[in-house]
Amino acid sequence: MINVSKIKKGIVLDHIEAGRAHVLYRALELEKVTDAVVLMQNIFSTSLGKKDIIKIETDYNIDFTVLGLIAPHTTVNFIEDGERVKKIRMELPEVVEGVLKCKNPRCITNSEREIAGHKFYLYDREKKEYKCEYCDTLTTYGE
Ligand code: CTP
Ligand code: ZN
Repeated sequence: MINVSKIKKGIVLDHIEAGRAHVLYRALELEKVTDAVVLMQNIFSTSLGKKDIIKIETDYNIDFTVLGLIAPHTTVNFIEDGERVKKIRMELPEVVEGVLKCKNPRCITNSEREIAGHKFYLYDREKKEYKCEYCDTLTTYGE
């Protein structure tokens, strides 16, 4: 079995749904990280069968907010001196940037001239609906 060693310092994203690590990698813009990043796919897990893991050996200040929408079961582990010092899960965010696409085809955010960093605001927590800041259209992730 593949074994990727423990890290000394950094962040481990664990319990990622198998096959989805690349989606998180892109949403978190991990290509911008200049320290070591390891993406592991289809790793054996006693509880999940299979899972993905991402390890980032860094103290780079990464914003994990978006995980609460796209991968809420992911555990974010903070490692210091080879030991886990904190473990968190992200909650459904109030504001989302980058991963949602407005459903309204005539919305300015879908025009050729792309609007960078437009926001969506949580509208209905139960239905996980977000409202476009430009046209008020409701959109959910993965639709
Ligand atoms: N990990 C790591 N380097 C360390 C410590 C932990 O890469 N120095 C990784 C482990 O490989 C695991 C995750 O961080 O993927 C969480 O590790 P651990 O603290 O051992 O917790 P577990 O009991 O494995 O996980 P959980 O409590 O979330 O069930
Ligand atoms: Zn819109």
